[in-house]
Amino acid sequence: MRRAATALVGAIALAGFASCIDPVHQRNVEDLGGEQDGIRPGPRHRAGQPCLVCHGGLGPGEPDFSFGGTVYETAGSTAPAANVVVTIKDAKGREISRTTNDVGNFYVRREELDPTFPATVKLARGKEGEEMASSIGGTGSCADCHVGAGSRSKMPRVYMKRSP
Ligand code: HEC
Ligand code: HEC
Repeated sequence: MRRAATALVGAIALAGFASCIDPVHQRNVEDLGGEQDGIRPGPRHRAGQPCLVCHGGLGPGEPDFSFGGTVYETAGSTAPAANVVVTIKDAKGREISRTTNDVGNFYVRREELDPTFPATVKLARGKEGEEMASSIGGTGSCADCHVGAGSRSKMPRVYMKRSP
């Protein structure tokens, strides 16, 4: 009797839990680890990470972003590229530009642009420019596709210059 009651309580607790927390999302967030020492949650945190895992609507990041990422100086390097103007244009021709900060981060809040995909993106800093030839089909996190030094399945980190 006691055993059955415990099992029932367990089942109810589990049902309540599942209804408010998405376990896959939870795991994706946890996989990104904790905050780096000395950097508070804000515009300079989590450089290189896919911002929208947490700022994409399911939390725990606030506010929601439609785009977010980090730009580096050269392909595969870890030197952040500051003052790069990132210009994004959505399928309806709406354009928005953001300038990267000192860690290379930029983001667009969803309330500023709730895009219709596909979107195009280009980078500019003074006379330098880089353009993504293809378009972004449906994710606003650059780091979903641009990861580390690149691999067979991933592009390298977003960079400003092809070579030093
Ligand atoms: C692992 C989860 C996670 C990731 C990934 C993440 N953030 Fe955050 N971010 C948070 C949390 C949590 C907060 C604090 C929210 C709050 O104030 O309640 C936050 C806050 C912020 C804020 C402050 C918002 C304000 O209140 O003004 C900014 C800006 C921000 N993040 C930018 C970024 C950028 C840019 C990226 C990607 C390079 C990123 N975040 C990646 C979790 C994340
Ligand atoms: C869905 C995957 C995907 C996402 C998301 C994505 N990219 Fe890309 N990106 C690519 C691919 C694939 C290429 C190489 C082919 C090309 O240039 O179109 C590329 C190339 C680029 C290039 C040109 C680099 C070169 O070597 O020619 C830039 C700049 C760039 N991306 C910036 C960005 C920025 C900024 C974001 C985030 C707003 C972003 N990308 C999001 C897949 C993606």
